[in-house]
Amino acid sequence: MNLTFIQPPQVEWASGALAKGPLLRKSTRIQDLIEVFADEPARQQLAGEHVVYDVEMLATSSAEGELYTGVTHLYPGHVGGEYFMTRGHFHARREQGEVYFGLRGKGLLLLQNEHGQARLENVFAGSIHIIPGFTAHRLINTGNEVLSALAVWPAIAGHDYAALAKGFTLRVFEENQQILVREVQNG
Ligand code: F6R
Ligand code: MN
Repeated sequence: MNLTFIQPPQVEWASGALAKGPLLRKSTRIQDLIEVFADEPARQQLAGEHVVYDVEMLATSSAEGELYTGVTHLYPGHVGGEYFMTRGHFHARREQGEVYFGLRGKGLLLLQNEHGQARLENVFAGSIHIIPGFTAHRLINTGNEVLSALAVWPAIAGHDYAALAKGFTLRVFEENQQILVREVQNG
């Protein structure tokens, strides 16, 4: 039998880059992250065009039951001492979970439930993060290199950014070259 073998998409382990798409890409810049960091004046001082993170995603079916796959590349940096991070979100369909896999770099995954209880998981090459339903999530780059993580989530999950307009209840800063976690009252 003359079978042809399908060449699937692939992730390059070393760089976290997705290949053999079709791919969708989105860059999130300093200018997009209004009031996301604690020190809004410090954010306004930075170059708005500077990219904080890129997301590459396989352009696959959005039908119910299907899964999306994407890689987030979160660059190193700070805003007023607070580490670069993703905006963070609950899923619009709150019960839908997600899996993150660390690919390269070093950071934290901030998880928070609907009661505002938060926890932090170490992210590193090979780390696996099971994000349950009803749990908001945000990546934080605490290293000096790019933090890349692959995510797989239900296509129907959607994103709800507005529910976290006041932010998470924990913020992560660099102080004296150490990681400093601060609890926030208004979260
Ligand atoms: C999908 C997911 C990730 C994030 C990405 C960017 O549900 O969790 O692909 O979308 O890390 O973060 P946000 O969407 O918070 O800007
Ligand atoms: Mn998500």
